[in-house]
Amino acid sequence: MNKMQELKLADGNKIPQVGLGLWQLTDQAKFKASFNAAIAAGYRHFDTAQAYHNEQLLGDAIKESGVKRQDLFITTKIAVQNFGEKKSRTSFMQSLKRLDMEYVDLVLLHFPIPLLRKKTWAVVEGLKAESLTKSIGVSNFTINHLKQLEGYAKELPVVNQVEMHLFLQQDRLLDYCQSKNIIIEAYSPLAHAKAMDNEVIGLMAVKYKHSYAQIMLRWAIQKGVVVIPKSANPKRVVENIDVMDFEISDEDMTSLTKLNKNLHTCWNPELVP
Ligand SMILES: NC(=O)c1ccc[n+]([C@@H]2O[C@H](COP(=O)([O-])OP(=O)(O)OC[C@H]3O[C@@H](n4cnc5c(N)ncnc54)[C@H](OP(=O)(O)O)[C@@H]3O)[C@@H](O)[C@H]2O)c1
Repeated sequence: MNKMQELKLADGNKIPQVGLGLWQLTDQAKFKASFNAAIAAGYRHFDTAQAYHNEQLLGDAIKESGVKRQDLFITTKIAVQNFGEKKSRTSFMQSLKRLDMEYVDLVLLHFPIPLLRKKTWAVVEGLKAESLTKSIGVSNFTINHLKQLEGYAKELPVVNQVEMHLFLQQDRLLDYCQSKNIIIEAYSPLAHAKAMDNEVIGLMAVKYKHSYAQIMLRWAIQKGVVVIPKSANPKRVVENIDVMDFEISDEDMTSLTKLNKNLHTCWNPELVP
């Protein structure tokens, strides 16, 4: 098992470039099977959220695994209904309790909720100052939301977790985030399995002797972003981290650029003021 490649965050911390997404994994047996396969395959980065209702399952699975806390990278997110000064702090403390941890590696505002996101950002800045989280970031923020945040934040986010995949390439946002030293985390990097039949990707899978999913993930890795694919299938969990031993050529990366079609498979924050 090779150590997963890490990216350096603006605050000096490091994040493993492949993590396991945990959305929709609430069945205990399925959660354990996926988590155990991930640990055995070398994953150390796990992406949960208050809204996923599995922080406790994650905490329990980690304890059972025997992996040391300091070797893991754990992200959770403040759910939209918990935004605001008091609720965000209280709910975060409940997250820590469910995870049975003294700190998380990264806490994100799950969505750019108008008005309340400003107060909630101040709360997560405070959590970092208290060492209850090592890093702070946002999710589903557009360039507009980030520019507003620059006006009220004491500290900028080091991560913006957004939907990004071959069919939603997010070039402008990626350039903007890179100019501000904000790492993009690509969520739904497999487009939530809603477009697994593209011919160009299929042909590249044959050419590079890797799977369709691995071509999608490798493209994102080469764009310099973090990927957090989800799978409840242990075989696919292993497949999805096995993306570091090949390289897509510059010419093929250019061909893949043409697949962008602004396909949102989750929520689209563009219209949020
Ligand atoms: N911040 C946010 O607002 C937000 C929103 C959405 C997602 N996320 C995060 O991003 C993570 C990943 O996103 P996602 O779950 O939406 O979608 P995804 O990872 O793009 O795709 C998951 C789907 O792909 C299938 N799949 C996984 N590996 C595969 C493979 N190798 N070959 C074929 N199919 C495969 C899975 O089915 P099986 O399970 O049956 O394998 C599942 O149906 C989430 O779990 C969550 O942590 C964050």
